Amino acid sequence: MKNIQSYINTHKDTFLNELIELLKIPSISADSAYKKDVLKTAEFVRDSLKKAGCDHVEICKTDGYPIVYGDKIIDPNLPTILVYGHYDVQPADPLELWDSSPFEPIIKNTDLHPDGAIFARGACDDKGQMYMHVKALEFMTATNQLPCNVKFMIEGEEEVGSGSLSKFVKENQEKLANDVILISDTGMIAKDVPSITTGLRGLSYVEVEVTGPNRDLHSGLYGGAVANPINVLTKMIASLHDANNHITIPGFYDKVEELSQEERNEMAKAPFSLDDYKKALDIDAVYGEKGYTTNERNSIRPTLDVNGIWGGYTGEGAKTVIASKAYAKISMRLVPHQDWIEITELFTKHFKSIAPKGVTVKVTPHHGGQGYVTPTNSIGYQAASKAYESTFGKKPIPQRSGGSIPIVALFEEELKSKTILMGFGLDSDAIHSPNEHFGLFNYFKGIETIPLFFKYYTELSK
Ligand code: BES
Ligand code: MN
Ligand code: MN
Repeated sequence: MKNIQSYINTHKDTFLNELIELLKIPSISADSAYKKDVLKTAEFVRDSLKKAGCDHVEICKTDGYPIVYGDKIIDPNLPTILVYGHYDVQPADPLELWDSSPFEPIIKNTDLHPDGAIFARGACDDKGQMYMHVKALEFMTATNQLPCNVKFMIEGEEEVGSGSLSKFVKENQEKLANDVILISDTGMIAKDVPSITTGLRGLSYVEVEVTGPNRDLHSGLYGGAVANPINVLTKMIASLHDANNHITIPGFYDKVEELSQEERNEMAKAPFSLDDYKKALDIDAVYGEKGYTTNERNSIRPTLDVNGIWGGYTGEGAKTVIASKAYAKISMRLVPHQDWIEITELFTKHFKSIAPKGVTVKVTPHHGGQGYVTPTNSIGYQAASKAYESTFGKKPIPQRSGGSIPIVALFEEELKSKTILMGFGLDSDAIHSPNEHFGLFNYFKGIETIPLFFKYYTELSK
């Protein structure tokens, strides 16, 4: 595309400063204390879409946080690309583990990013990646090179399960009609190894509560004579995996898609160093389901993990007490054909069935969603592949990710279109963690690559 390099070079500082302004607003969707900031972020996104060249922008109210919609329809006979992203971010805690303040973005050089990375909550997930699309649109409209129609749908509840968006999508099929959906909210293998995400895992997230005696008890007077909810809960959780780290819930694996040896061999060709992996995490061994490699364990296999566990006394010093209740939050990552509602039911039934007498168990499902796999022979995939090849000088590798964007499966169901996941993040970006960052190289490479997707997609659609 004409002048993309020079356009980026001339506007580098503006592109960065605008992203910095966006990152300064703490749009934490999970915490109602930030409600005003989340709403302010929606306005920021709306204004930026307008400035970038959308003809029509609006903030669509929902029962929760609003959805920012924008479009530029140049010719109804041309294809329409729908860009999805999210403007909400994860909570920033634990704050004390950040080297700089999460909502005061700063640019620092790191070993991996000698030309700088921007540190802030949301830098990569997903404000930085979403904003690449806004700047790509700006470039295309400013230089008269927008080759097709474009729609934007940027939501504010992705990190809490996209509750309002599913309703919005079901009720606005016509408004959202498109030929392909484009998302940058995933990662790539390495800065010099471009990849296209071809799969996302599904998710079932539950909270469990184990109740024993009706009040907290003295652990000397009652210990050993009544069920201790924390002892019981940890034993129940431990039993959810067997010695081979298989999940023991009956029926859990019944629908799991098994990959052929050929497909597994193909997967194993992607560059990966187990030593580097261990070094980066400072662990002396990996751990997981017997019979599968690390990359298989974190993408094509389902998992069950405790995300939080609490109960009893955790303050300073010691308190001899048997708590009345114990709790845990548990996530299950699911693979194609596993249905998250069915898995949630299987979990609930099993978890209640393994509770010993003397306690009661409550299971509360949170959110969830189906997994997603996108074909590599579609026009969308080919356009993305060509786009990466021109900007990275290398063909991108298809790769299934372990993360989840549950709304993607619903897009396909309701809007009948495939999603192309052009992620520019890196595993080392620390999304959801302290010191989240996004490489400037990645940010600008994204802005450079996206317009080429538009171009090749339009050409291949003819
Ligand atoms: N952008 C992530 C998902 C992601 C990250 C996919 C990297 C692949 C690679 C998204 O914002 C996210 O965090 N999703 C949640 C699920 C959601 C329902 C809270 C997740 O995967 O935990
Ligand atoms: Mn995200
Ligand atoms: Mn996220």
